[in-house]
Amino acid sequence: MPDGGALIVGIGGSTSAASVTNLLLRACLDAAAARGARTVAFTGDELAELPIFDANVDIAAPAAAALVAAVRDADAVIIATPGYHGGMSGLVKNAIDHLEPLRGDVRPYLDGRAVGVIVSASGWQACGTTLVSVRSAIHALRGWPTPFGVTVNSAEQHPAADGTFDESITGALQILATQLTDFAGWRAAARA
Ligand SMILES: Cc1cc2nc3c(=O)[nH]c(=O)nc-3n(C[C@H](O)[C@H](O)[C@H](O)COP(=O)(O)O)c2cc1C
Repeated sequence: MPDGGALIVGIGGSTSAASVTNLLLRACLDAAAARGARTVAFTGDELAELPIFDANVDIAAPAAAALVAAVRDADAVIIATPGYHGGMSGLVKNAIDHLEPLRGDVRPYLDGRAVGVIVSASGWQACGTTLVSVRSAIHALRGWPTPFGVTVNSAEQHPAADGTFDESITGALQILATQLTDFAGWRAAARA
C-alpha cells in the first residue's frame, strides 16, 4: 500500500439520473476516504461508455483503460449494482468482463484485494440473490468478498432529498468501508 492510504476503486451504479446505487457507492467511498483511503469511482454513466465486451476484439478496449489501470493499482474494490432480474445488471457485469486484461498480472484479476458488494433492488429477494451473484463473480476473479455486504431495498428505504441515507444504511456503509480499509492495511502489513 503506497503512502497516502489504500486505493479503493468503486465500480457500479446505474445510468438512472437518481440512481440509488450510485449514491450508495459514493457514500461508501466517502466513508473509506474518511478512514484515510484514496478513492476512485466508475459510476453508471462512465460504465455506459464501455462497449459490450468482446474477447475477440476488446481484450484491452481503450475505453476501459482507466478502469483496468485503476483496478490494477487498487488495494480494495467496491462493486455496486442494482438487482436486475435477480442478478447484477448487464452494465456492471460488462464492466467486470472488461477486467480481463488483468488475467496475466502478477496479481491476476482481483487477487489479493478485499471486494465489497453493495446492492439496491426493489425487493428483498433480489437483494439476496444479487449479492450472491456478485460474490460468485468476485470468487471467480480471485477476490476476497468482505464478510459484510450492503443491501438496500429501494422500495422501502429511500435516500433523502440531498442524497443522504438514514442511520441504518450509513452504519452499514461504515462497516463495509471499515472492513475494506482494515483488510488493505493487514495485507500491506503482511507484505512489509
Ligand atoms: C430491468 C430491471 C430489472 C429489475 N429487476 C428487479 C428484480 O428482479 N428484483 C427487484 O427487486 N428489483 C428489480 N428491479 C428494480 C431495481 O433493482 C431497483 O429499482 C434498484 O434500486 C434500481 O437501482 P438504481 O436506482 O441505482 O438504478 C429492476 C429494475 C430494472 C430497470
